[in-house]
Amino acid sequence: MSDPTEISESDVQAVVDSALAAVSAATDSASLKKVRAEHLAEASPLARLNASLRDVPNDQKAAAGKLVGQARARVNQAFEAKEQEITVAENARRLAEEAVDVTAVPTRWQAGARHPLSLLQERVTDVFVGMGWEVAEGPELESEWFNFDALNFDEDHPARAMQDTFFVEPTNSHLVLRTHTSPVQLRALLGNDLPLYRIAPGRVYRTDELDATHTPVFHQIEGIAVDKGLTMAHLRGTLDHFVQAMFGDGAKVRLRPNYFPFTEPSAELDLWHPTFKEGPRWIEWGGCGMVNPNVLRSAGIDPDEYTGFAFGVGVERALMFRNDVQDMRDMVEGDVRFSQQFGMVV
Ligand code: FA5
Ligand code: MG
Repeated sequence: MSDPTEISESDVQAVVDSALAAVSAATDSASLKKVRAEHLAEASPLARLNASLRDVPNDQKAAAGKLVGQARARVNQAFEAKEQEITVAENARRLAEEAVDVTAVPTRWQAGARHPLSLLQERVTDVFVGMGWEVAEGPELESEWFNFDALNFDEDHPARAMQDTFFVEPTNSHLVLRTHTSPVQLRALLGNDLPLYRIAPGRVYRTDELDATHTPVFHQIEGIAVDKGLTMAHLRGTLDHFVQAMFGDGAKVRLRPNYFPFTEPSAELDLWHPTFKEGPRWIEWGGCGMVNPNVLRSAGIDPDEYTGFAFGVGVERALMFRNDVQDMRDMVEGDVRFSQQFGMVV
């Protein structure tokens, strides 16, 4: 027989006080779970008290049982009340957090915009493809031979000089960043059978300072046609159709004598812009001419059998006067708000 155990009122009270304090200190279901483990579950002081009832002398059992029973009831009741309170609070919080505001404006994915320079180049290309021309291309890192020599530039032509051309090291590589799209003339002629009608939009480089009307990296569109019997009249007719497709029926071109080593005769190409914002006027746009026989010879073509015409225009310039852009710098800065003004074509 084990020693009879006394269960004193003060012992019970201490256990109850400590359990109630823990219950009331619990703030969420996690801390409440801990309270259950420490104060209500098996091996908790209250559980041990209950178990020890078995050793209480018979004459005290009823009183002790009542004492412990009441203690457990109080603690359980407090626990359940707290549990209820926490559950309600946590549900309310979760509902608030997960609430869906069906009136909220969703964050929209911002579609980018094609750059107006790209769109313009495509438009021009489409006009020529519509006439049966094909698209040609060449590298931006170009050999000096294609950029200058084969185009009949003299060894000491000023365009080769340092102030215009980006030369690429090492100098004996004879590579340059192409200064115009005209080398594509040669590349097209060398790679294809005649007759040949090609349009070549592309990026070019010059050591110009960036300002409102110049940029060191810009775009040109080159055209070349080589066939039997082509004359200056074909050049004019082609250009007139081109500018009317781009600038409306009232548009036309004017050719002013000029010099380019790769065309003979050569002309400055002016556009009559009928809907220019500040009134109709002539605008300088590029150069053109009949392909110089020396260029045809560079490509192994007999200039007595074939003739050709070529032209090259600036795309940035076209965007300026076609869409009333005042400053070329806006075209290179990459602010999407600039592009968006031209429509969200993707
Ligand atoms: C040429 O580049 C010749 N290759 C054009 C040509 C082609 C003539 C075929 C004959 C036959 P030019 O250097 O003038 O020509 O340049 C042509 C156009 O490019 C200019 O009229 C202008 O519209 C544009 N351009 C020239 N430099 C710049 C620049 N720094 N920034 C923006 N556009 C420019
Ligand atoms: Mg010029």
